[in-house]
Amino acid sequence: MDAVLNPYAPGAGLRPPELAGREPERQMFGVMLDRLEAGRSNQGIMLTGLRGVGKTVLLEELRATAETRGWVTAFIEAAGSQPFRLLASQALTRSLPSVSSRHRSSARLKRALSVFKAFSLKASPDGSLSMGIDVDAVVGRGDSGDLELDLSELLADLGEAAAELGAGVLLAIDELQALPKADVTALAGAAHQADRLGLPTAVVGAGLPNLPRVLTEAKSYAERLFAYRRIGALDEAAASEALSRPTEGLGVAWLPGALNRAVSASAGYPFFLQAFGKHIWDHAPGPDAITLDDADAGAGRRSTRARRGLLRFSLGTRHACATVLPRSHGRRRRRPRRHSRGGRPTWPPSSRRGPAPRSVDQEGPHLLAQVGHGGVQRPRHGRLHQ
Ligand SMILES: Nc1ncnc2c1ncn2[C@@H]1O[C@H](COP(=O)(O)OP(=O)(O)O)[C@@H](O)[C@H]1O
Ligand SMILES: [Mg+2]
Repeated sequence: MDAVLNPYAPGAGLRPPELAGREPERQMFGVMLDRLEAGRSNQGIMLTGLRGVGKTVLLEELRATAETRGWVTAFIEAAGSQPFRLLASQALTRSLPSVSSRHRSSARLKRALSVFKAFSLKASPDGSLSMGIDVDAVVGRGDSGDLELDLSELLADLGEAAAELGAGVLLAIDELQALPKADVTALAGAAHQADRLGLPTAVVGAGLPNLPRVLTEAKSYAERLFAYRRIGALDEAAASEALSRPTEGLGVAWLPGALNRAVSASAGYPFFLQAFGKHIWDHAPGPDAITLDDADAGAGRRSTRARRGLLRFSLGTRHACATVLPRSHGRRRRRPRRHSRGGRPTWPPSSRRGPAPRSVDQEGPHLLAQVGHGGVQRPRHGRLHQ
């Protein structure tokens, strides 16, 4: 069918045509905003999961929800060794001008903007980061150079200003596990401090499954500071919606067998749903239905190349070339009984290590399903243990 009209969006952080499922997380987030606006404290939320499960798009969705409620929001993507002060300054510079133009008369907000300017000048002394913020920097607040202290002061002042306007402040931080350790420590400390002041400020993050450990190693109380939500595959109903809703408006129907085929080939993993959806659409003759044959051709065993590409995306290049080792592989067995003559083991060495390893490429999304459910250990040194 017409590739130009293809509605699916495989990629990293690309908003899907239908953001399916994730109701519990959206609801949890809504309750958090309500509580903070009402002056009650609430834990921040940390979304964790493998690549391709939809953490970034969900985090961005949550941020947008807060923004429509008038909150000051910043979407910060941790990358490489970029310092948090720089990333946060860039993100807040994108959102603060529109808030300040909506509330010109608020003296509190003006004061908070001066603290933000001082905070950002520490990251970029030439002022290029806070160009759109038309106030003078204060001296002695947000500018000590100690990130934990400065961020606490900034969140306190922005939080007070936002509270006066009936809203709050949200920092949404993606790939949080990639921040330098000192910055994670400072961030957790500042979030804790803001929580104690009872102001409507929230830190919501997303990261790989090691994020809880990274946070706890940075500050031991981080375990209790945040509510952790594991993001994984969508259930069958949500996965079907992710595929079928986007084509409804285009007058194309998925025939029931076809939908089941694509859902089961993807094992409900959001990235695979988008990738298979796109592949199937492009190869289906149409014009108004996707049949079981189309789904088989697009998501079946024949599309090994596509599957290899997908695994590379999901596990990273190194792990896509990895070998899947069966559960028994490499485990020590009971010491072999020895023959009385010659002292040789009773079974040949080749069978000592269990069944032969299989390639990751043969596994597809179902391997990810096992990784996601803890059936396969974390990828390490190019080998995956089942
Ligand atoms: N809830 C969802 N429903 C349908 N597709 C989704 C959903 N969440 C994510 N996707 C798709 O999955 C892919 C990966 O999403 P992304 O947010 O980048 O994952 P992660 O941040 O966990 O690596 C994208 O192509 C996105 O459009
Ligand atoms: Mg992501």
